Amino acid sequence: MRGGAATGVARAVELLDLHPAPADMRQLVIEGLSRTPKQLPAWFLYDAEGSRLFDLICQQPEYTLTATETSLLEQEASAIAAALGSGTLVEFGAGSARKVAPLLQALSQPAYVALDISADHLEPACVRLQQQFPKVPILGVCCDYSQLEQLPDHPLLSGTAHLGFFPGSSLGNFNPEAARALLRQFHKLLGPGSTLLIGIDQPKTRERLEAAYNDAAGVSAAFALNLLTRLNRDLAGSFEETAFRYQAVWKPEHSHIEMALVSQKQQQVKLAGQVWTFAEGETLITETSAKYSPEAFLELAASAGWRGEQRWSDPAGDLSLHLLVQAD
Ligand code: AVJ
Repeated sequence: MRGGAATGVARAVELLDLHPAPADMRQLVIEGLSRTPKQLPAWFLYDAEGSRLFDLICQQPEYTLTATETSLLEQEASAIAAALGSGTLVEFGAGSARKVAPLLQALSQPAYVALDISADHLEPACVRLQQQFPKVPILGVCCDYSQLEQLPDHPLLSGTAHLGFFPGSSLGNFNPEAARALLRQFHKLLGPGSTLLIGIDQPKTRERLEAAYNDAAGVSAAFALNLLTRLNRDLAGSFEETAFRYQAVWKPEHSHIEMALVSQKQQQVKLAGQVWTFAEGETLITETSAKYSPEAFLELAASAGWRGEQRWSDPAGDLSLHLLVQAD
């Protein structure tokens, strides 16, 4: 890693590429489309265009999660930094890495590792952050963080305890069983004595939630439909984007929003070397987004070896930032 911090020149950002291989993506697509209902891992939504559209979702007036969490992080940064302790900050699913700045500002001598599935998005995000924080060592790792067996072997990660950062309520993309497994995996990846700061969105009225995931400007719909464009490009698909309609439905029995593309007709689609049949009205679930009350979340976290140490919420009680410590 080059120096230069003392002169105010940003050091070079290092990037590692551990993106799933095309053969693995093909296998995941075959598995996902063989299920009833059809559903793919949510990370397929995040090619370069999907990541760009997701950033736009975060700016829609109906999708208040990002703005609420960002201002909570800004307001509570020094208390959060004190509770996090010291070590390298590891963000799971960093995207544009727009939430971490107040923490890097408040932590003493921070280092930062950003994990994200979209390499095209990760690189400019890290470069921008490096310009903003010339003295902070930054590493970008392109990967599916839910499948990591260990953190990369790198000097920034040579310490034993790390500070995990998992904002945005992204845990909601995993079903309860997978969410528990993921929290357990974070426990293992971060190492003994680590802490984890995690943002969790809470259940709200159907009206608010369905509007948040189906904004009037149509960005949520474009984000989901882009999955078809991505699959056509990367896995030799023959999807017609106009033959599917986007919908977002709150399912109180699962406490999650289900986002899906609904087939507008009986049709056959080629993808990943196979032919897939969609009945009229059949759904392809693009993602689910679970919402947890603080109590429900802490119960889930406890079952994965984490204990809630502190919690910060916005005044309206829409979401919480939980500071977790390892309980075992
Ligand atoms: C990135 C998973 C937290 O569920 O709120 C937002 C994704 N998709 N609108 C969410 C998303 C459509 C988002 N997470």
